Amino acid sequence: MRKSAILITGANGEMGQGLITALHKQNNVNIVALDLNPLDDSISMLANEELIGNILDQGLIEQLNGEYEFDTIYHLAALLSTRAEFSPRAAHDVNVGGTLNLLNLAIEQGRSQGNAVKFFFPSSIAVYGFSGLEEKNSASAIKEDSYRNPTTMYGCNKLYCEHLGNYYTNNYQRLGAEKHQHYIDFRSIRFPGIISSKTIPTGGTSDYIPEMLHAAAKGEPYKCFVREDTQLPFMTMPDAISAITTLMDAPVENISRTVYNIRSFAPTAEEFRQRVLAFFPNAEIGFEVTEKRQQMVDSWPADTDDNMAKKDWNWKPTHNLDSGMNDYLVPDLQLMYKN
Ligand code: SER
Repeated sequence: MRKSAILITGANGEMGQGLITALHKQNNVNIVALDLNPLDDSISMLANEELIGNILDQGLIEQLNGEYEFDTIYHLAALLSTRAEFSPRAAHDVNVGGTLNLLNLAIEQGRSQGNAVKFFFPSSIAVYGFSGLEEKNSASAIKEDSYRNPTTMYGCNKLYCEHLGNYYTNNYQRLGAEKHQHYIDFRSIRFPGIISSKTIPTGGTSDYIPEMLHAAAKGEPYKCFVREDTQLPFMTMPDAISAITTLMDAPVENISRTVYNIRSFAPTAEEFRQRVLAFFPNAEIGFEVTEKRQQMVDSWPADTDDNMAKKDWNWKPTHNLDSGMNDYLVPDLQLMYKN
């Protein structure tokens, strides 16, 4: 008999680690964690089963389909934006091809279970694209359906996969089914940059904020790779994780769209540097701009409008920048790097 479970891909990534920790706290959740790398020691005991493998491996996908009955799939595995710019072909393979494999798995599972499989897909502010700084600066907090002209491979991949999620939802409906009776219940969030106290992202472009903070806490000098006036929306990792679980738990009737913006605060790089200095006054934080990465963030919005998420599933972050620093980031970092 197939085992009931939930599947998390990219389980050892920053978001995967946070999500496993949160889902483990819920009762009766059988977590199957899939990643290219072994799970970090801090979370390996929280997953019921750990699989090391590649989402492009068809044999592995078939094995998952044969052995498990997944009611929910959190498909987090991806190459982030800076890495994707260096290896666009590989990024497309993983970010698009991998997502297609997981969507097909969800459809197979939905068919055999006669039920909709819930599918979570993390999208990104990278789906938006401005032609340059002038357009970015003239736009106010942007809504989900505007400026979807990605300039990066990662942004193209994420936007296309959002569309694939819609396509799979609408084109695979149960025969004779009523409205909402699909094989897949695809839900997605366009995340801003995320700041975790426990991990540092690898290969992203919003990484300058978490890198700056962790370097300061460790007592290491840091050169920020974007200009002082660069502005993007951000949030803390606990808020990102609780957004995922809240959206996934929301009743289907409340969900009016497949993809939602969320955000918490939107400091410029210099404003964030000042916050960091308030806690770590000896931090050495300079600026040394990397042109390619600057161009990428100049094409992304300074802020987004998250009213749809507020309205449909009561999205509300617990942390603003002050409480995020005071109550979560700084105390954790001081503990982690105290030696
Ligand atoms: N944080 C991501 C990155 O920088 C964007 O979603 O790649």
